[in-house]
Amino acid sequence: MSAPIYSGGMARFSIISPRRAVAVWLAIMAVLATSCSGNTDGLVGQDLFERTCAVCHGGGGEGSANRPALNQGSDAATLTDEQIRGVISVGPGAMPSFASRLSKEQVDSLIEYLRQLQAGSADED
Ligand code: HEC
Repeated sequence: MSAPIYSGGMARFSIISPRRAVAVWLAIMAVLATSCSGNTDGLVGQDLFERTCAVCHGGGGEGSANRPALNQGSDAATLTDEQIRGVISVGPGAMPSFASRLSKEQVDSLIEYLRQLQAGSADED
């Protein structure tokens, strides 16, 4: 804290107080946390799947390493809508919970998209 950050004007405003610095830091971290978690506002169906699920389950729901496939012929195809809703909400095992991140409409749209993948009728790109 040797050089004043703001050199013009009144001396007492020349240095940011530690308390204020902490507040600014927290504000920056909050913004970063929001942007890193991926903003899913307004996304539905395929766009939402690609943004939030494909990183683990593959773009076409084909699965990867230890992440189960969700597409045609997969175990997930035998789950009911309610069971899938539960999985998305709870986040079993190594899957995160999306309960606080996705609206009911978004979850419905994901299930609808999964059903298209499972029927082989999804228009993937
Ligand atoms: C960080 C990786 C990851 C992300 C992101 C992820 N999942 Fe999962 N998912 C998993 C893992 C791992 C499992 C297996 C969990 C277990 O039972 O141990 C799983 C299981 C599932 C299952 C159950 C499959 C079965 O055969 O029982 C469904 C359905 C599912 N995920 C859907 C989704 C949807 C929809 C999204 C996006 C909202 C999503 N997942 C995001 C890792 C992920």
